[in-house]
Amino acid sequence: MAKTALITGVTGQDGSFLAELLLEKGYSVHGVRRSSSLQNLDRIRGVFDPVHSERSSFRLHYGDVTDASNMRRVIDECEPDEVYHLAAQSHVKVSFDEPEYTANVDALSTLRLLDAIRAVGGEKSIRFYQASTSELFGKVQETPQTETTPFYPRSPYAVAKLYAYWSVVNYREAYGVYACNGILFNHESERRGLTFVTRKVSSVVAKINNGSDETLHLGNLDAKRDWGYAPEYVDAMWRMLQRDEPSDYVIATGETHSVRELVEAAFAAVGIEIAWEGAGVDEVGKCKKTGRTLVKVDPWYYRPTEVDLLLGDPSKAQRELGWTSKTKFEELVRIMVESDNRAIAQGQVLR
Ligand code: NAP
Ligand code: GDD
Repeated sequence: MAKTALITGVTGQDGSFLAELLLEKGYSVHGVRRSSSLQNLDRIRGVFDPVHSERSSFRLHYGDVTDASNMRRVIDECEPDEVYHLAAQSHVKVSFDEPEYTANVDALSTLRLLDAIRAVGGEKSIRFYQASTSELFGKVQETPQTETTPFYPRSPYAVAKLYAYWSVVNYREAYGVYACNGILFNHESERRGLTFVTRKVSSVVAKINNGSDETLHLGNLDAKRDWGYAPEYVDAMWRMLQRDEPSDYVIATGETHSVRELVEAAFAAVGIEIAWEGAGVDEVGKCKKTGRTLVKVDPWYYRPTEVDLLLGDPSKAQRELGWTSKTKFEELVRIMVESDNRAIAQGQVLR
C-alpha cells in the first residue's frame, strides 16, 4: 500500500523539495497551503495540477497552523501515515518584529498538530517530523554542535522553536508518539526566499553580472553558518521517519563559512574578485579590477542578538540514517548564482 504524507509548509523551500521526493517514492502527498490574495504556488508548480487535482497523488488543502480545528480536520480527511511539520514564520530577524505571532506559529502549531494526532487516535499509527533548527544552539556552548550540546536560543524564533522541540520530546515520552526533531543547520537552494542571506547575495550578484548598477547591502559579515543544499536535507527528514525507534538528529555539512566568504564565492562565480577595505559599518567590498564598490554594510540588517557561529556534527545521522551531505559550499553558491543568472537572462522576475 502506498503511504500517505501530510506536509505543512508545502509551498516553502523545503516543503516543495520534500513533496517531490515523496511523490518519487510513490507516496500520496497532501499539502497545507495558506489562503492569500496572491497565489503562492510557484515552488510547487512542478507537482500541482489544479485541473486534475482530485485524481492526482498530490493534493492541497487550505489551512493555517494557527487554527487547531482546521489542522485536526485536515488530518482527519487525509489520514496520513507521516506528518512533516515544516510550516513556520522562518525568518529570524522578522521574529524580533513579530515575536508573539512567531510564537503562535512556530511554538504552538507543533503542540496543535501533536494534539490533533492524539485526538484522532493516531499515537501509534502517525509518525511526526518537527522542523527543528540549529538556531536552538544560538550562543553556542560548544563547537561543533551535536544532539547533546546545550541550547541557548538568541531570538524569538529560536525560543519558539525550543518550545516545539520539547513538545516533540514530551509527546514521544508521554504518549509514545513516533516523533522526531530534525535539528537542521542552514540549507539553501535556488528556491530559497530572497530575504535570506544566501539568496539575497546570489540574486544581487546575478543582477550586477547582468548590468545592474545595484550595490549589495548586508549586515553582519562575520557571522558564520554551516550551509548545505536543501534537496539533500529533505531526504534526511524522510529517513528519520523510517527507523524502528524515533530520535532527534543534527543534519549539517560539518563545514562553516562566514557571510564575507559567501560574498566572495558568489562574485567569484561570475568572475569578479572582491577586495575588502575598512572595518565595521565602514567596510566595503570593491571589484579588484575596476575599483567599483559592490558591497556595503548597512546596520539595519543587524539583529538585536546574533548567532555568531554554527557548525554541526552530523555523525549520528551518518551512523544511524546513512545520511551525509554531498554538495560543498562553493558548489552550492555556484548553483544559486547560475540559477539567478539564467532566470534574469530569460527575462524572469526573481522570486
Ligand atoms: P520557508 O521557505 O520560509 O517556508 C515556510 C512555509 O511555512 C511556507 O510554505 C509558508 O507558507 C508556511 N507558513 C508560514 N506560516 C504559516 C501558517 N501560519 N500556516 C500555514 N503555513 C504557514 O521555510 P523553509 O526554509 O522551507 O523551512 C522549512 C521549515 O524548516 C521551517 O519550519 C523552518 O523554520 C525550518 N528550518 C529551516 C532551515 C533552513 O535553513 N531552511 C533550517 C532549520 C529549520 P507561505 O508560502 O504561504 O508563506
Ligand atoms: N537575512 C540576512 N540579510 N542575513 C544577513 C544579512 C542580510 O542582509 N547580512 C548578514 N546576514 C547574516 C545574519 O545576521 C545571520 O547571521 C546570517 O547572515 C544568516 O542569516 P539568514 O540567511 O537570514 O539565516 P539565519 O541563519 O538567520 O536563519 C536561517 O537558518 C536557520 C537555521 O540555522 C533560517 O532558515 C531559519 O529558519 C533556520 O532555522
